[in-house]
Amino acid sequence: MNIQTISTTPFDDQKPGTSGLRKKVAVFERNHYLENFVQAIFNTLGDCRGKTLVLGGDGRYLNRQAIQIILKMAAAHGFATVLVGQGGLLSTPAASCIIRRYQAYGGIILSASHNPGGPEGDFGLKYNASNGGPAPEQLTEAFYARSRNLTEYRIARADDVDLDILGEQRIGEMTLRIIDPVDDYARLMQELFDFDRIRALFQSGRFTMRFDAMHAITGPYAKRILEEQLGAPSGTVMNGVPLEDFGGGHPDPNLVHAHDLAELMYGPSALSFGAASDGDGDRNMVMGREFFVTPSDSLAVLAANAHHLPGYRAGLAGVARSMPTSRAADRVAGHLGIESFETPTGWKFFGNLLDAGRITLCGEESFGTGSNHVREKDGLWAVLFWINLLAEKRTSVAEIVREHWRRFGRDYYTRHDYEALDAAIGQQIMDRLVGQLERLPGQSFGNYKVVSADDFSYRDPVDNSYTEHQGIRLFFENDSRIVFRLSGTGTEGATLRIYIERFEPDPENHGFDPQDALKEAIDVAEALCKVKALSGRSRPDVIT
Ligand code: G1P
Ligand code: ZN
Repeated sequence: MNIQTISTTPFDDQKPGTSGLRKKVAVFERNHYLENFVQAIFNTLGDCRGKTLVLGGDGRYLNRQAIQIILKMAAAHGFATVLVGQGGLLSTPAASCIIRRYQAYGGIILSASHNPGGPEGDFGLKYNASNGGPAPEQLTEAFYARSRNLTEYRIARADDVDLDILGEQRIGEMTLRIIDPVDDYARLMQELFDFDRIRALFQSGRFTMRFDAMHAITGPYAKRILEEQLGAPSGTVMNGVPLEDFGGGHPDPNLVHAHDLAELMYGPSALSFGAASDGDGDRNMVMGREFFVTPSDSLAVLAANAHHLPGYRAGLAGVARSMPTSRAADRVAGHLGIESFETPTGWKFFGNLLDAGRITLCGEESFGTGSNHVREKDGLWAVLFWINLLAEKRTSVAEIVREHWRRFGRDYYTRHDYEALDAAIGQQIMDRLVGQLERLPGQSFGNYKVVSADDFSYRDPVDNSYTEHQGIRLFFENDSRIVFRLSGTGTEGATLRIYIERFEPDPENHGFDPQDALKEAIDVAEALCKVKALSGRSRPDVIT
């Protein structure tokens, strides 16, 4: 095999964020940009000879070209086998499943998750380790360090391969196996959920649903599992064909971006169930008839009901939530007498807890829920979990959630995002908050009296690693909490996220719209951070 060594110069911006390296397509298209980062990964991994790599992406613009380059680089580094999803496609949770099932050394997933795609959109690359989970921080830091002093990369000189034909091909010594992207994942879902019962629910004719794949990766997965295996009527999956630019949309499953679906959930002919997933298939949004399930509540409901489902009958070891996620899951853990953990934002922090068997379920407020079945959050898994629960309980989504609130109390919750702020303003807001931390306890803002305030840090109970500056937390006397943090996934300026919640134990007060129930707390948040005043914006860009 002809291996070329190409000289290059380092880029100084290849620092992975919350979820891999994510940049505008134009940045990834710069000469050597992708190659450099892949070389930094391979250098960090060390001897790759004889190892198996999993490779695939969410199908966005640049996916196929990037796969051709990475395959040739993998061949040049001596990988024995690379497993690639047909057409270059693999959802993030399926990649995690495949890494685990085939005991691969690791995997490269090409995605910028819920960020828009196409030539003007974003592209991304993340590395997952042999447990199937996102590279831990020591590893991503090492990729970055390596990227800073690269002088060359190695790539095999070979023809492009055909990514669409299932089966084996070779690039030099390396075996390339094109696999069906759905098979292994679908088999895993079958082990976890009661497919017979779900089939009966669809057959009953009383259950109507749509799954919005948003022209992203979950289309083929949802069609196979929901329509072919579970007997949902054809057309249940909408926007099911993955497109390089996601049809011009923003593949983020929330009420703003999944509006086609949201519309079907209201009015006289509203469906019983609606769900959506994001660009790479790891996020989920779940709705009932005229009822939106907050992701934080979804995690708590799943935790409280997991024992009804085949894969979780033995009960849960523990649950974890990211810090900005509402405390609803903690209440369930307390009730079940199991451990609960509060981790920094980002799925990678759940990995150690899952590997060590300390938790079974975990989730984030950002439409991410998952379990120990893989090491990523998993959109379609969460949707199947809900459908299985509905098949089991034969009641509505709204009733399941309201019943949950009656039992545990309701954590009113909202997140307000100010996107693409001037980076300096974002930093100024955070610096000012940090500067106030010591003085805040004891201060009152209307009915809101601060009892404690901190800059969140986390000591991993498994490997003892320490992560700091993960967001400002303020706790109030009335069992409310406000959190401020800057996004680690945005590709433009700074995005400020404000997370606002208040616990309401009294069922008489459970029926309000969160924006109304939290109105005063929302004003307190502005008084504290002054984002509107400093940025001149009159409202958040996205409210979830
Ligand atoms: C966002 C979410 C976070 C999630 C990440 C990757 O990160 O807030 O929960 O893990 O996307 O999907 P952020 O932009 O807030 O850093
Ligand atoms: Zn995603």
